[in-house]
Amino acid sequence: MTKVLIATEKPFAAAAVNAIRNVVEAAGFELVLLEKYSEKKQLLDAVADVDAIIIRSDIIDAEVIEHASKLKIVVRAGAGYDNIDLAACTAKGVVAMNTPGQNSNAVAELAIGMMLLIARNHFDGSSGTEIKDKTLGIHAYGWVGKNLARAAKGFNMKIMAFDPFIEKSVMENDGIVVASSVEELYKSCQYISLHIPANDKTKKSINRELLSLMPKNAVLVNTARKEVIDEAGLIQLFEERPDFRYVSDIAPDNAADFKEKYANRVFFTPKKLGAQTSEANNNAGIAAAEQIAKFIKNGDATFQVNK
Ligand code: 3PG
Repeated sequence: MTKVLIATEKPFAAAAVNAIRNVVEAAGFELVLLEKYSEKKQLLDAVADVDAIIIRSDIIDAEVIEHASKLKIVVRAGAGYDNIDLAACTAKGVVAMNTPGQNSNAVAELAIGMMLLIARNHFDGSSGTEIKDKTLGIHAYGWVGKNLARAAKGFNMKIMAFDPFIEKSVMENDGIVVASSVEELYKSCQYISLHIPANDKTKKSINRELLSLMPKNAVLVNTARKEVIDEAGLIQLFEERPDFRYVSDIAPDNAADFKEKYANRVFFTPKKLGAQTSEANNNAGIAAAEQIAKFIKNGDATFQVNK
């Protein structure tokens, strides 16, 4: 019987696991669950006899693929697939997919929440500021960027976006001002929200030079990946610019130092939680299970990312 493994170090909500089980069993497959594992060995053992794997930010490297001799498909229930070794998948004939858009509203809502938190001084009772009429720069206009624009409009923010991979008209149709360069975006916006993927081109691309273009009382919001930040440059900027603030869903490597020196200028979630809502877990988990069923039954490879 076809075996589908959910391997989630950070588990889905229980209701989402049940919903995934329903899809998997309705397809005539068996569901196996590995949650909250603490050692890679547990993952290596669990993948040994499965045909399909559903993951979140779990690392699927060449060793995992090597151990999964029956594996046909791995689906990242979420957007970013920088945690999957795509070349190793391709070499073994394993299809890798993501589930674009399924958890994006949850991430966008977190970005709004973190902007409000920093604008109101961590809700410490002191006089803060409002985000109404402030400039918001959305760096990359994919699913999360689009959801963020929709939500930020409700706060009456002035929204600009930059994304060289998206037709200008898509952003214009959403009523967004389109920046002609990444520098223009950073120069123009007090709040910048990052929605770029982590890849060879973007890693460390958010550097001191770019961030120092931001206007006074700048706030950098990161619900993307910590790898896109040049942390040494950010540290330097924090020393040069007492007005600069950073809120992130992925704590930087030097989180303790940032918190000790600049407590009221930073906020880091304890664990990446942008997509950690029951709705996002349901949407992404069910989509992943449905994509697996369609691929195994009909060879439908929509959403394949290792082409
Ligand atoms: C994504 O890429 O979809 C988000 O970063 C969510 O990651 P998570 O499933 O580990 O919460």
